[in-house]
Amino acid sequence: MKQTIINSKGYSIFIGDDVYETIRSFLYQYEFSEHKVFVLVDNNSRKYCLPRLMSNIQLFQKVHILEIRDGEENKTIDTCQQLWQDLAENNADRNSMLINLGGGVISDLGGFVASTFKRGIRYLNIPTTLLSMVDASIGGKVGVDMKGLKNQVGLFSNPQVVFIIPEFLETLPQRQLFSGFSEVIKHSVIYEKHYWDELSALKISEITNWKEIIDWSAEIKNYFIMEDPLDTGFRKVLNFGHTIGHAVETFSLQNDDHPLLHGEAVAIGLICELYISGKQAKLPKNEMDEIISFIMSAFRHYSFRSGNFDLILDFMKHDKKNSGDKFNFTLLTSIGNSLINQEVDIKLINESLRFYQSLKS
Ligand SMILES: NC(=O)c1ccc[n+]([C@@H]2O[C@H](COP(=O)([O-])OP(=O)(O)OC[C@H]3O[C@@H](n4cnc5c(N)ncnc54)[C@H](O)[C@@H]3O)[C@@H](O)[C@H]2O)c1
Ligand SMILES: [Zn+2]
Repeated sequence: MKQTIINSKGYSIFIGDDVYETIRSFLYQYEFSEHKVFVLVDNNSRKYCLPRLMSNIQLFQKVHILEIRDGEENKTIDTCQQLWQDLAENNADRNSMLINLGGGVISDLGGFVASTFKRGIRYLNIPTTLLSMVDASIGGKVGVDMKGLKNQVGLFSNPQVVFIIPEFLETLPQRQLFSGFSEVIKHSVIYEKHYWDELSALKISEITNWKEIIDWSAEIKNYFIMEDPLDTGFRKVLNFGHTIGHAVETFSLQNDDHPLLHGEAVAIGLICELYISGKQAKLPKNEMDEIISFIMSAFRHYSFRSGNFDLILDFMKHDKKNSGDKFNFTLLTSIGNSLINQEVDIKLINESLRFYQSLKS
């Protein structure tokens, strides 16, 4: 299958199962032999993805591997400290490069570690989850969580290049695949209606051609980044589903033994924010119903208990995008059209959570 190339802000994104040749020439061009190359993996990307790179690209035999334990709970400054030390002990210098091989935790954390070590070394992303292929690996936002709050410390810093190899999805657990799918759904409804028409005709469990979906989904994310690289305005369209989604995610991380994944929380956020869009931004009811039933068909319902809504609203107050009692939303006016910086009343947010709760069949 042909390799797709997307041009982003000063770097390119290559997509295809045959990008190994492109990676090879990139590494040669970089004079790999003279500079130290580090690969950051977690236990799963080491087990499932690194061997494929090693067998396809000989140069990978010579890289220095840095491994962390998988999971959001490791996206912390403590893990960074360990990695900065490992880099120093292994003589990384300003010419060294870090390859982030893994999901969004690896690209967020590795991008942050690379961008701060010795005031910044180069890094590139090879995402291995659907979520990181269509979202986290693109756009230059890197950082870590603090005291259970998401992405509290970080910066904007672009990778040198992104290589997306869809075949890595073959080993991804289904729950993780579905989690990434909520970002794909989001992309399909914020940009142009025909993507939604295409996507909604599919059943996630029957999708075999992931490359096609990754191509347009990554392209849509990149479109908003190119328009607004520093997230000062237009890029907020990408926040659709995330004002409530992030709060639900934080809530679940702090309260559940088996917390929701990012994309699972975003699926709830999307439903609530579609409801709010219907009430406040005139999103037609048929469009709202159509998207909600598609999301409900892909995700299990999550049950809140009484009193939980207040906690979720508290987390929303901590969100960088909200200030005080003012809650800042991106709302959909119709599929493919949205409004940013919409202030939503706390009562309507509560109502949307109750609406979500009522969907339990
Ligand atoms: N920077 C951004 O713009 C941005 C955007 C969206 C999300 N994010 C961040 O991304 C993170 C979530 O990313 P994620 O969903 O990729 O989670 P993740 O990195 O935790 O990966 C999910 C799980 O899949 C495993 N895994 C990864 N690739 C695999 C493969 N090919 N086969 C088998 N297992 C594999 C991982 O080890 C992990 O257990 C969150 O921290 C979120 O905040 C960042
Ligand atoms: Zn997201």
